[in-house]
Amino acid sequence: MRKPESQPKICDYEGSNYRVDFWEGKGRDYEDQVERIALRRLLPGNGRRLLEVGAGFGRLTNEYHAYEQVVLLDYSFSQLQYARENLGDGRFLYVAADAYRLPFRPGVFDAVTMIRVIHHMADVAAVMRQIRRALVPGGVFILEHANKRNIKAMLRFATGRQAWNPYDYKPVEFVELNFDFHPEYIVQQLEQAQFKLDIRFPVSFFRVDFLKNALPTGFLAGLDGLLQHTGMLYTPSIFTRSYAAGNTPDNLAAPSLFVCPDDSGELTHDGDTLVCHQCGKTWVQRDGIYDFKAPANE
Ligand SMILES: C[S@@+](CC[C@H](N)C(=O)[O-])C[C@H]1O[C@@H](n2cnc3c(N)ncnc32)[C@H](O)[C@@H]1O
Ligand SMILES: [Zn+2]
Repeated sequence: MRKPESQPKICDYEGSNYRVDFWEGKGRDYEDQVERIALRRLLPGNGRRLLEVGAGFGRLTNEYHAYEQVVLLDYSFSQLQYARENLGDGRFLYVAADAYRLPFRPGVFDAVTMIRVIHHMADVAAVMRQIRRALVPGGVFILEHANKRNIKAMLRFATGRQAWNPYDYKPVEFVELNFDFHPEYIVQQLEQAQFKLDIRFPVSFFRVDFLKNALPTGFLAGLDGLLQHTGMLYTPSIFTRSYAAGNTPDNLAAPSLFVCPDDSGELTHDGDTLVCHQCGKTWVQRDGIYDFKAPANE
């Protein structure tokens, strides 16, 4: 696929076994449970249309029951295929696309979530701008990010076992396309993208194997849920909730959701194909998944 020079690199999960390699039977029930506790605390009680960016195989999708429509977006077609097999169509729409080139009309969502995804983003500002544009004014953005100022990193730095400084605001790329962020850096980026931070809190206090092995998962997760209220932002994961500020379009009731990801041109439906009025590129739906990764006619 051809990409403009300026396009940031993507951490491609296509064909990966993320679900079985990372989650199922891999001793991460605790992480899964504490993330659900955080999400339940942050999600509004009802809403019209929610977008999950980097939804993967739909691990957290059953938390979005209060929304009339849920759009699962991921760069990996195969992750979405699994999600669709599991969840079916009904309230769900599946979109294979790049978060740096969202294929949506401005203001068509009243909620966006992004969990365990921004740590793969080399250009945080660009992806936040895309998300802000997709939201109505006042829409909610729930973002989870990996925290560089966590206790383990602080101890390793203090004892000279880690070169990078956890207190420095600059993101650290510890493995290619895997970043940890300082909580203040994320707030700065949110503000620059026209979001107003409402609340943020620490999650995953006990992400340590010996504790997870020694103590019942439900107990640790429950305790984590309580500690999340302490506001001690030294855990490996931070959840934030922000609202879209400014006066931008509200297209929640617009009849069509999609525009061309390359030039925001209007699209006409022709069977399973969407044709851009401006550039003539065609985007297809296959296996019930809209594919905006690459045009079908290039
Ligand atoms: C660690 S997984 C998290 C999946 C899900 N949010 C969860 O918590 O189970 C990261 C996901 O982000 C997706 N991703 C990474 N870069 C992306 C991009 N530029 N656009 C869309 N999705 C992307 C990957 O395909 C992958 O499914
Ligand atoms: Zn176009």
